[in-house]
Amino acid sequence: MILPGTPETLIEKCVARSSLSDAEATFLFSPAFDTHRTDLYAAADRVRSEMVGDDVYLRGLIEYSNYCTCRCAYCGISAFNADIERYRMSPDEILSTLSAGYDMGFRSFVLQSGEDPIWREQDIVALVKTIKSRFDVAIALSVGEWPRSSLEAFRAAGTDRYLLRIETSDPELFAKLHPDSNWEARHRCLMDLKELGFQVGSGVLVGLPGQNGASLGRDLRYLIGIQPEMVGIGPFIPHPLTPLGNATGGTLDACLTFLALLRLYLPDAFLPATSAMGSIHPDGRRQALKAGANVLMPNISPIENRARYQLYPGKICLNDDALKCRTCVEGWVTAMGRKCNPGHGHIIRRSRPTNTAFNGA
Ligand code: SAM
Ligand code: FES
Repeated sequence: MILPGTPETLIEKCVARSSLSDAEATFLFSPAFDTHRTDLYAAADRVRSEMVGDDVYLRGLIEYSNYCTCRCAYCGISAFNADIERYRMSPDEILSTLSAGYDMGFRSFVLQSGEDPIWREQDIVALVKTIKSRFDVAIALSVGEWPRSSLEAFRAAGTDRYLLRIETSDPELFAKLHPDSNWEARHRCLMDLKELGFQVGSGVLVGLPGQNGASLGRDLRYLIGIQPEMVGIGPFIPHPLTPLGNATGGTLDACLTFLALLRLYLPDAFLPATSAMGSIHPDGRRQALKAGANVLMPNISPIENRARYQLYPGKICLNDDALKCRTCVEGWVTAMGRKCNPGHGHIIRRSRPTNTAFNGA
């Protein structure tokens, strides 16, 4: 692999947010870069500290239904999996779960589910309106693709944020993995969310079959182009009861590298240390917080549902109640010299010189 510089100058290039070639992206994700990887993480950690400070923003995650009509090839709760017990929380159960989270100090929540047809547009609207009338909290929805008119209704009801990963920037790979959607529709949905004024979270899976360093570089370029307020990435973890059950999963190093690059190129974004990173390595989330991340999403769903929302095997925190997770997270974050911030956590855009190389998806 011929690079027009050294690994050190490549890291400087990333810090300066210069455009990366396919060869440079390939190098960054290759074993040849391993001895320099911690320097990249340290550079991202510095930019994180300068740009967004030491706070670690907490979002209480409620996984309210594992019913799903979609057949995403990697997903443990997809319609492919006939062997899991399905559950669906009622609006009252969701409200009491959120209320318990509120009492623990959470002011920011994520409501996530599979694509569950029983939850219609008007049901989600009613839920969000009730929450917003009773609690002073920020709400993010993570409920898949919806028509623009529904997204507009969710926004009008008071939804602050919406999380929808593009999963991959490669339309062909996307088509292979998502028989129920297409890349253009997913991208269009993200554009709708931006136009409707949501704080948008997107992201990709790292380590999908067919991905390589160059394609991860293109994923990075796509995410930089759409300028999301939050980017959640995590390793693809093969689930045995899915079509990709025998595939090889993503690595923590690849995730941390991608995360560090996100921090360098999207310096003011919210970047979670995701549960999937914590699930492939006991220290995964802590390492992510040292490589650019500034968000944690403790699972506050009722314990009896946790095992039934296993998108992948080995998912952490299946048996820990919300308070235990909250206390545990607070403990290790504080020990790192950082501070948990359970507040609303709205984006504050901080200006840095624009790098035109990445404008446009
Ligand atoms: N239905 C919504 C959607 O598709 O956006 C939200 C739920 S979906 C399960 C949330 C995320 O889980 C997906 O965006 C995907 O990246 C991640 N996920 C699913 N299966 C996974 C796996 N096997 N390994 C890692 N992450 C996975
Ligand atoms: Fe529907 Fe994963 S396939 S949530």
